[in-house]
Amino acid sequence: MTVYDVIDRKKRNNALSAEEIGMFVRAVASGEASDAQIAAFCMATLLNGMTDEECFLLTDAMAKSGKQVPRPAAAGVFADKHSTGGVSDSTTLVLVPVLASLGVKCAKYSGRGLGHTGGTLDKLESFPGLTCALSPERFAEQVNRVGAAVAGQTEETVPADKRMYAVRDVTATVDSIPLIASSVMSKKLASFADVILLDVKCGNGAFMQTPAEAEKLARLMVSIGEAAGRKMCAAVTDMDSPLGDAVGCNAEVREAIAVLKGKQNRLAELSLFLAEQIARKALGISEEEARVRCERAIGSGSALSKLEEIVAAQGGDARCVRDETRLPLASGVYTVRAAADGYVRAAALPLGKACVELGGGRRREGDAVDHTVGILLRRRTGDAVRAGDVLAEVRYASPSEAAFALAESAFSVGADCEPHPLVYTMIEGKE
Ligand code: URA
Repeated sequence: MTVYDVIDRKKRNNALSAEEIGMFVRAVASGEASDAQIAAFCMATLLNGMTDEECFLLTDAMAKSGKQVPRPAAAGVFADKHSTGGVSDSTTLVLVPVLASLGVKCAKYSGRGLGHTGGTLDKLESFPGLTCALSPERFAEQVNRVGAAVAGQTEETVPADKRMYAVRDVTATVDSIPLIASSVMSKKLASFADVILLDVKCGNGAFMQTPAEAEKLARLMVSIGEAAGRKMCAAVTDMDSPLGDAVGCNAEVREAIAVLKGKQNRLAELSLFLAEQIARKALGISEEEARVRCERAIGSGSALSKLEEIVAAQGGDARCVRDETRLPLASGVYTVRAAADGYVRAAALPLGKACVELGGGRRREGDAVDHTVGILLRRRTGDAVRAGDVLAEVRYASPSEAAFALAESAFSVGADCEPHPLVYTMIEGKE
């Protein structure tokens, strides 16, 4: 059996065996399979799909393609959360300190922004000095000592996904449900979290456009995690409009801190909802009790103090948590105003793209990110406005007509506009 044979069988829509999948993944990780072969395999999978069994086998083989993250020696339940990516989604920066302050240990591996979506690692690096490059040993030690660590996976973990994702990114094969599910879950399974919550976004700013597609992806990922013995749950949540009121690294970190100080908006609502779901599974308490504890973590300031501890443990300037002026915003301001009276809709995708145009996101892996630029939303989807009202402020370091045009195009004002539901569906794994 050769890599060619495996691709040929997938092209003819056969279900691949464990042996075939294992051989293909080993060839990807070792470099024996060429980029052209990986692309052909991914396109055949995108067009023909995979059975759930094949998808589990692919995920498992990818998870084992590199080093596993060692489980800390200390007893306890370890939790992880993953968002499939969106705009103004800084829930991790809120829920990790909330959970850690409740005693739920958070072992969180995050990603960088790519395309129009923001990445938690870039946002965390807004804290001067902070590093997300933690060795697996330092990661596990910090989870033990502080109760939480947020880091990027190293080169040695899940090498098969790194190669496959890079090829998918340039061959129009990202938006395949089995390929997304295996990519996301291989990274989760290579680490040691016992409880995993998946936040699967849907809407114009997400990979999945409809709640039905997002639910299909969520169910598949939950079943993969369960087959690997993890406690799983998934929420299908809205990404038609930006989740919070800020887009861009420093602006989003400021907003997450404001939520930890009590600010109320959809970001706060979703962060608390997701924290509650993890807390009830990790601590074995009721949803009501979990909500009370999460709210208390914010009200008492203990979650805010925990964020300071996490930032300091990763070498960052924790003074920024109390003094937001240490997270500066670019001084250039372009104002978006309502063209008419009516109700606003703010679309996530053009706002994410506008942030990239400003230099606040990445076009290619490895691009530098300007943490100071971004967009501050002054009105949310569903708000009533009068012509001329300020809808958003674009903060720029150098003016960009393309960014301003995208920001303008993101807002529409009509006779009626209801925000979408924040959470469409909650999918529970079996206990
Ligand atoms: N995030 C991932 O890690 N992988 C995908 O395929 C899509 C989103």
